This record gives sequence, structure tokens and C-alpha cells, in this order.
Amino acid sequence: MTISVFIGTSVDGFIARPNGDLDFLPVGGGEPHGYDEFMASVDALVIGRKTFETVLAFPAWPYGQKRVVVLSSRPVDLSAVRGGVVEQMAGEPSAVVAKLAASGAHHLYVDGGITIQRFLRAGLVQRLIITRVPVLIGDGIPLFGTLPRDVRLRHIATQHYPSGLVKSEYHVAA
Ligand SMILES: NC(=O)c1ccc[n+]([C@@H]2O[C@H](COP(=O)([O-])OP(=O)(O)OC[C@H]3O[C@@H](n4cnc5c(N)ncnc54)[C@H](OP(=O)(O)O)[C@@H]3O)[C@@H](O)[C@H]2O)c1
Repeated sequence: MTISVFIGTSVDGFIARPNGDLDFLPVGGGEPHGYDEFMASVDALVIGRKTFETVLAFPAWPYGQKRVVVLSSRPVDLSAVRGGVVEQMAGEPSAVVAKLAASGAHHLYVDGGITIQRFLRAGLVQRLIITRVPVLIGDGIPLFGTLPRDVRLRHIATQHYPSGLVKSEYHVAA
């Protein structure tokens, strides 16, 4: 199983404003920087309940027919999702991964700040692809949080784009 993160942040490390607004991110995801290719390579998304609530408010379900697992400790109403493939799970990240592996998934895309942090703390993330948007927003929902120990990263590649996006890929060192 490979577990990846693909996310956009402000240069000061926030994935959303304190109220969840994403207005500092480029409209429509910005210029092509590999998201579609990355999405095509994943078998399922694992997203936190708060990210689910954000995407539900989008005009259309953004994940097509890709399998989406919403994590929450309480029941989540999935009935508002039109045309998507969505289910709910809860529990330790390792148990969630085991369940998805048993159902045939090989590559997971984990999304949402708290969710990513829990998977990182559990030592389950192998790849981080972080695209920095050229803006400082001062405050917001952070991508990273506390860790029980350092997580050593190996830099794989950094690409920059005319609009100022800077995408870096890291692998978690063994
Ligand atoms: N910049 C970007 O590219 C990007 C990408 C994704 C999201 N975002 C933004 O980030 C914000 C959401 O991030 P966030 O850090 O606030 O929250 P989040 O990670 O989306 O959701 C956190 C919630 O997920 C549930 N959860 C996570 N792991 C779980 C587990 N192992 N078992 C059970 N439940 C689990 C919990 O829900 P309960 O409290 O219900 O138990 C937790 O409160 C939104 O504003 C979203 O738009 C930005």
C-alpha cells in the first residue's frame, strides 16, 4: 500500500483560512501541476469530515467516480453526494488502511489537515506532494502539527510554474 498526500498550502503553511475559506488558492486549482495525473493513480481518497463538508458545498462533487472514504467518529449524512462513490469509516488510521487494503486498494490519497496529521503520526504516509501558493495568510488551518518524533524526508523533486506555484515532492525516509 502506498499512501500519498497532494495538497496546496500558503507559503506560511496553511491549507485553509480559520473559517475554512479556500479563497487564497488559485481558482480551479490553478495551472496544471499534476493533480489530474496524481488522481488517476489513486484507488481511493481518505478525507476528514471537515474536508468532506467543504467539498459538499462545492457546486459539483469534485471526485467523479473515485472511491471516497469519509472519516468521522460520528455518523455522517452521505445522502447529499450526487453521482459519487462515498462511504464512511472511523478508527485508527492503521485499521482504516488495513480495511482498504483488504478491499483491493493499493494507493490512497489522504486529505484534510487533521487527517493527514493523524496518518503522519501513525507513520503511514510515504509521499508528500505539497504545492505552495505564493501568498502569506497569517492564520488558518495548518497542514502540519505535533509529532511524537521527527519524520525524515527525502526530497524527490521541486518544480515551479509561471503563476508562482512551487510543487515539491518528498518521500518519507525509511
Ligand atoms: N489546501 C488544500 O489543498 C486543502 C485540502 C484539503 C482540505 N482543505 C481544507 O482543510 C479544512 C479541513 O481540514 P481540517 O484539518 O480542519 O480537518 P479534516 O482533516 O478535513 O477533518 C478532521 C475530522 O476528520 C475526522 N477524522 C480524521 N481522522 C479520523 C479517524 N482516524 N477516525 C475518525 N474520524 C477521523 C474527525 O471528524 P469528527 O470530528 O467528525 O470525528 C476530525 O475532526 C477545510 O477547510 C478544507 O477545505 C484544504
